[in-house]
Amino acid sequence: MDERRMRMGVLISGGGTNLQAILDASAAGRREAEVVVVLANHENAYGLERARRAGIPAAWVDRSAYQTFRAYNEALRDLLLEHEADLVVMAGYMRLLGTEVLDAFPDRVLNIHPALLPAFPGPSGIRDAFEYGVKVTGVTVHLANEKFDDGPIIAQEAVTVADDDTIESLEAKIHEVEHRIYPEVLQLFAEGRVAVEDGKARIIPLAEGPSGAR
Ligand code: GAR
Repeated sequence: MDERRMRMGVLISGGGTNLQAILDASAAGRREAEVVVVLANHENAYGLERARRAGIPAAWVDRSAYQTFRAYNEALRDLLLEHEADLVVMAGYMRLLGTEVLDAFPDRVLNIHPALLPAFPGPSGIRDAFEYGVKVTGVTVHLANEKFDDGPIIAQEAVTVADDDTIESLEAKIHEVEHRIYPEVLQLFAEGRVAVEDGKARIIPLAEGPSGAR
């Protein structure tokens, strides 16, 4: 972004270790992006506590308080707009997003998934890949759409599954990659270096400059 830091609204459902990695990267001044609001669909999501500790507005948005999926998504959208978010960052947010949010932030809603999409989408990507017996899995960061774990891929990193890996050791390896790669991709957004053309995302090399970015 130009003069000001890019403003991120983060959506979570649970522990928020990815949120923490993003907060830590911002706090360290290594990123030209700041988290301005954290919204959770579970009252006890520990990520809400992480946000409050960092002095960031955090709220539980209770789906059951809204009559329709649309009304719930309108509430999410309004909160994000109220906090002047530029980018919506799904960090372990385990619900679909409605068009109300997606249309308000075109090509500006991101998701992270702990597998190499389009393989093993869904809520248990690490376990599904492990139980299948793949030798390589990994992490995907992509632009979100109205389907689960779907949309233009921005970055992927492979993680090798060793013969002696357990589900726990594989989880640890995947999370380590997630906590590094998500802040890196957010920084690329802040620098205007992610372009979306013909339904595909592309990182603009430094020499090319930000003019092609959307
Ligand atoms: C992360 O591993 C994230 O990739 C995954 O949920 C976890 C949240 O952990 N997301 C999905 O599976 C999306 N389909 P965190 O709350 O500790 O960041």
